[in-house]
Amino acid sequence: MFSYLHRYHAGNFADVHKHLILITLMLSLQKKATPFAVLDTHAGEGIYNLKSAESQKNTEFKRGLNPLLHVENPPPLLERYLKIIQSCNTTDEKSLYPGSPAIIKQLLRSEDRGILIEGHPRVITTLREHFARDKQLHIHERDSLEGLIGLVPFTEKRGLIFIDPSFEVKTEYKEIVKKLTTAYERFPQGIYALWYPLLPAAMHQDMLNRIQRSNFSKVWYCEWIPYPQQEPKGLYGSGMVILNAPWQSDIEIKALFTWLNQHVYKTGHFQQGWI
Ligand SMILES: C[S@@+](CC[C@H](N)C(=O)[O-])C[C@H]1O[C@@H](n2cnc3c(N)ncnc32)[C@H](O)[C@@H]1O
Repeated sequence: MFSYLHRYHAGNFADVHKHLILITLMLSLQKKATPFAVLDTHAGEGIYNLKSAESQKNTEFKRGLNPLLHVENPPPLLERYLKIIQSCNTTDEKSLYPGSPAIIKQLLRSEDRGILIEGHPRVITTLREHFARDKQLHIHERDSLEGLIGLVPFTEKRGLIFIDPSFEVKTEYKEIVKKLTTAYERFPQGIYALWYPLLPAAMHQDMLNRIQRSNFSKVWYCEWIPYPQQEPKGLYGSGMVILNAPWQSDIEIKALFTWLNQHVYKTGHFQQGWI
């Protein structure tokens, strides 16, 4: 447990996919004036230095973030993402990449609240260095899935639960659906966004089948494969399943990734549907 460090993967295509969706969902929460909360169950370090030895090892950001840096006339959601990245950096170099906590922070209004959970002792130290003084963000050092159950429902009565596990142990796929079911029973009006990897072993498929058989409403999924291969090895695509997907969010996300596949990742493949 806790051998995964997101530093090695920061800014990769899966981050592009999940962070663009996070932004879309938070912007739809902003459409109503009443306060909301966002729970980030697997927060990570919060901000990543793409020049670190870990990020430089496989330079995964070169196939994820980098192709976006020189896009002209980006659609509004992409423009927002690029502005958030820019605001983390004081120079044009863009060597700092915002993780989900930094993105959440930027999209909370003064009346909203962010809750971050992280369990890795080294990772939470860095997360605290970045955000412990921020009164709007509450950091919890605890198990993610226990926290998922313990911290809902929100007093705000509306909000997003962003679940981005590292899937280090295979049992996580099954365990997550169990915990998600309990959390949903406690807080059925919450929006739940669960990220999953597309790997050759296809363990996500069983997880999606379990979700489909559960009593969730308005379940939408989307998968993005920016560089399709004949025989995929390793992480070849990024998936997200959303419970209580906000009105029009599916249409907005589909339009954005269709645009990205046409204009940036020219070979990319995107699929989606209600399940
Ligand atoms: C994929 S990374 C998170 C990346 C982050 N959401 C982002 O978008 O920037 C997953 C994080 O979850 C943490 N984690 C994994 N399993 C956990 C658990 N059971 N309890 C607490 N933290 C956990 C890992 O230490 C890691 O930092």
